[in-house]
Amino acid sequence: MSPDTVPSPKKPDPNSLAHSIPPGFVIGTATAAAQIEGASTAAGRSVWDDFSAQPGRIIDGSDTSVTCDHYSRYAEDVALMSTLGADAYRFSFAWPRLQPSGLGALDPAGIDFYDRMLDELAEHAISPFATLYHWDTPAELEAGWLDRDTALRFGEFASLVGERFADRVDAWITLNEPATVTLNGYALGIHAPGETLLFDALPTVHHQLLGHGLAVQALRAASVPGRIGITNVHSPVRAATDSPEDAAMAQLFDIVHNRVFADPVLLGSYPDVPDELAPLFGALGGADSRDLDTICQPLDFYGLNYYMPTRVAAGAGTGASPDGTAEAMTGLPFHLVDIDEYPRTGFGWPIAPKHLGTALAEMRDRYGAALPPVYITENGASFADEVAPNGTINDPERIAYLDAHLRAAFDAVAPGGAADGVDLRGYFAWSLLDNWEWAAGFTQRFGLVHVDFDTLERTPKASFEWLRQVLAARQR
Ligand code: FCB
Repeated sequence: MSPDTVPSPKKPDPNSLAHSIPPGFVIGTATAAAQIEGASTAAGRSVWDDFSAQPGRIIDGSDTSVTCDHYSRYAEDVALMSTLGADAYRFSFAWPRLQPSGLGALDPAGIDFYDRMLDELAEHAISPFATLYHWDTPAELEAGWLDRDTALRFGEFASLVGERFADRVDAWITLNEPATVTLNGYALGIHAPGETLLFDALPTVHHQLLGHGLAVQALRAASVPGRIGITNVHSPVRAATDSPEDAAMAQLFDIVHNRVFADPVLLGSYPDVPDELAPLFGALGGADSRDLDTICQPLDFYGLNYYMPTRVAAGAGTGASPDGTAEAMTGLPFHLVDIDEYPRTGFGWPIAPKHLGTALAEMRDRYGAALPPVYITENGASFADEVAPNGTINDPERIAYLDAHLRAAFDAVAPGGAADGVDLRGYFAWSLLDNWEWAAGFTQRFGLVHVDFDTLERTPKASFEWLRQVLAARQR
C-alpha cells in the first residue's frame, strides 16, 4: 500500500445510522437569533447587546453586532439547510427585533425579516420550529425576569407573534433553557444581565415559567395550528462520592438545574425540597397556586436539550475554571467535579452519549404519562476545527459525536431500552453554523458549517457532508 491509500480511521457509516432512523423522525439544525443574526442596531437592543458591550464580559471581547450576519445572508443559510436535506429548522424570533421596547405593536422591519426567512424555508420545504425566547430580553425591560411584569409582557409578545405568524410556524417553543438564564444570567453573573444573586435569583424561575404558561395560553387563543412546547436543558446529576453530604448536594443541584424547571410545567408543582434545604428556596415557597395552574398547560411536545452529565460534591469549590463558572460558584454550598472518564469537547464538556439515554429515562420515570412527545431540540459539540490548506474542514470528532448521540437516543427509546416508553419524535443538531457562543464569543465552533468570522464565508465541514449522506440514505 502506498501512503496515499492508507485508510483513515474509520468514520461512522452513514448508511448504518440511516437505517436506525424511524420513518417520520424529524432531523434538523438549531440556531438562536442573538448568536447568528447580527444587525443588532437595526431595531431594539437586547440585554445581550448591552452585556457584550461591557468590557471583560465576553472572553474574546466580541459582541452581537455582526455575528454570522444571518440577517443579510439568511437565503444562503437556508440553501445550506436544503443541501443538507434537513427536515426542519429551529430558529428563534428576536424579541427586541420584533418589539423593540418590549411593549406595543410589532415593528414592521422585524416582521419583514422573519417573513422573508419563513418564505425561504417554505420554498425549500423545511419545517419551521420557532423559539419565542432564546435569552435576548429587550433591554428596555430593565428588571428583566426579576420582575413579574416581564412574564406578562412575554405573554403579550407571544400573542402578537402568534397572530402574525400563525400559519407559517409548525412548532412553537416558548422558552429556551430557562435554567441557563436563571443560573448563568441571574445567579452567577456570567451571562446577561450579569446578576450575581445566587439563590436570590430563584424568582426568575417562577417569572420565566409564568411567562411560558401565559405564552402557551396566548398561542392557543391565537388558534395557531402549529404544535406548542417548551425547551429545557437536562443534565443527569450524580454525587461525586457515596457520602450523605455529596448526595444531598447532588439532589440540590438536580433540583435547581432540572426539576425546578420541569416539574411545574409538567406536574403543576415545584419539587419537594428536603427540610434542611428549604430556606434556600424561600423565594419559591409562596408560589401562588393560580400561577402554577397557568404554568402547567397541556403541551403538544417537550423539547429536551442535552449536552452533558454533571457530578456534584459538597462544599465550596476552589474557584478556577476557564470560563469563570467555578469562580462565580464559590459562594454556593456545592461545587461541580470534573468527569474525567470521558473525552471532552473544545469547551471541556464530557462527551457521554449514553447519558442522553439517562436523561430520557429520567424524564419517563419522573413524569410518566404527563410527558408529551419529546424532541431533542439541541445536542452538539464545539471543537477546534481548522481549515486545511486545500480549504476543507475535517471534523471527525463531530461526526463521531453526532453518530453516538443519535444512536444512544434510538437505543434508549427502543423496546426494552433505558427510556422505553418515551415518544421521541426528532433531533436538532446544535448548530447549523459556527456562531457567537455567548460569553465564549467566537472561541467555540459548534457548526456543521464553518464560518470565517472575518469574511463571513460559509464552508460546510466534513460533518455536514456526513449528515447529508445519513439524511439522503433514510427510509421514508
Ligand atoms: C445551549 C444554548 C445554545 C448554545 C449551546 C451550546 O445551552 O441553548 O444557545 O449556546 O448551549
